[in-house]
Amino acid sequence: MLRDADMLSNLMRRKPKHSLPRALYTDPAMYEVDLERLWYAEWLFAVPGCEIPKPGNHVTLQIGAYSVIVVRGADRVIRAFHNSCRHRGSRICQAEKGSAPKLVCPYHQWTYELDGRLLWARDMGPDFDARKHGLKPVHCRDAGGMIFICLADAAPAFDAMAEATHAYFGPHRLDDCKVAYESTITEQANWKLVLENNRECYHCSGSHPALCVTFDDNPNIAGDGSGAEDPAIAAHLARCEAAGLPARYHGSDDFQWRMIRVPLLGKGVSYTMDGKAAVSRMVGDVTLREAGTLLFYHYPNTWNHFLSDTVLLFRVLPIGPKETQVTTKWLVNKDAVEGVDYELPRLTEVWTMTNDEDRAIVEENQRGIDSPAYEPGPYSELQESGVIQFVDWYADSMTDRLTGRRLHAAE
Ligand code: FES
Ligand SMILES: [Fe+2]
Repeated sequence: MLRDADMLSNLMRRKPKHSLPRALYTDPAMYEVDLERLWYAEWLFAVPGCEIPKPGNHVTLQIGAYSVIVVRGADRVIRAFHNSCRHRGSRICQAEKGSAPKLVCPYHQWTYELDGRLLWARDMGPDFDARKHGLKPVHCRDAGGMIFICLADAAPAFDAMAEATHAYFGPHRLDDCKVAYESTITEQANWKLVLENNRECYHCSGSHPALCVTFDDNPNIAGDGSGAEDPAIAAHLARCEAAGLPARYHGSDDFQWRMIRVPLLGKGVSYTMDGKAAVSRMVGDVTLREAGTLLFYHYPNTWNHFLSDTVLLFRVLPIGPKETQVTTKWLVNKDAVEGVDYELPRLTEVWTMTNDEDRAIVEENQRGIDSPAYEPGPYSELQESGVIQFVDWYADSMTDRLTGRRLHAAE
């Protein structure tokens, strides 16, 4: 396809360690290639399992042209399905979240079991075979309480990451958390600018006064390294591991995902305006208040912070070539009581401000790139190693897909 060839030529003429050619941030045709080759092929974070704790609890999400339902079954297993009725294709669930004993299509009331089987369809005649008209499944896996989905026929390997998440998030026991608050914002920028901005803290001191009370903009923390050569980080890693919290840098060879537990600044224990705890009850089995934050990202759509009293989950979904949705969820111990153990404004204010500051930054980044005068500029190797790593992952994995070199172990 012509646009695949255009994508390859854009990738081949990109300068190493520079921001990407303009078309990759602006061109609707390149955005379509991103969707088809990457968003429809990779594992994507959908929802924390604790958000749909009971049978029939479900969420819907839109990934490019696909609408997907993620639902917990009567057997408590979480599954994902295409949100398109097997009769004449109507969407079945319209709301972003809901709860129902069965999934009933609003058009002619075809009724599906929570595991996708078609249970009932009126007047379809004696030859109609309900078994052939179940909802189409979407790959769905649990990684330490975070539910991931994949739209590809054959999903990429998942086990190594899932194993690591179970070890690293295990003590935080996501399944025993609740969503205390969530926000969804729309950023008028290409999804890659949202990810790039997340992968550096070069901008933090100039843009995030509230976050900088507790989050260290030391590039050893925000960047691509293991941090182990930094004595303060090394001491923190040892302290966390002694307290039963896996902490050391761990990630995939292609840098698609990584996790590391890093200290907060000073005596900070949570992302609050004074650095003190946001919630009196800690999460899961965590006993060390000063556990800092476990950073976990997975390209292309999530970055996360696991603190001793809060788990912050971020989900990115592309809406258009220059429009991206960012959803943030604040998870706390499910037994924590609002007004007693925590106050929502105190729990949420730092990241609500930070998200809005980041939105403004990436929207200005997009507007500047929209100018024909834009040309790719150099990343700071000291400050933006994480961004270099992200764009390399993007460019290399995209090139591999377009040239047929990327062969995944199928699920
Ligand atoms: S389209 Fe769903 S029941 Fe007809
Ligand atoms: Fe930021």
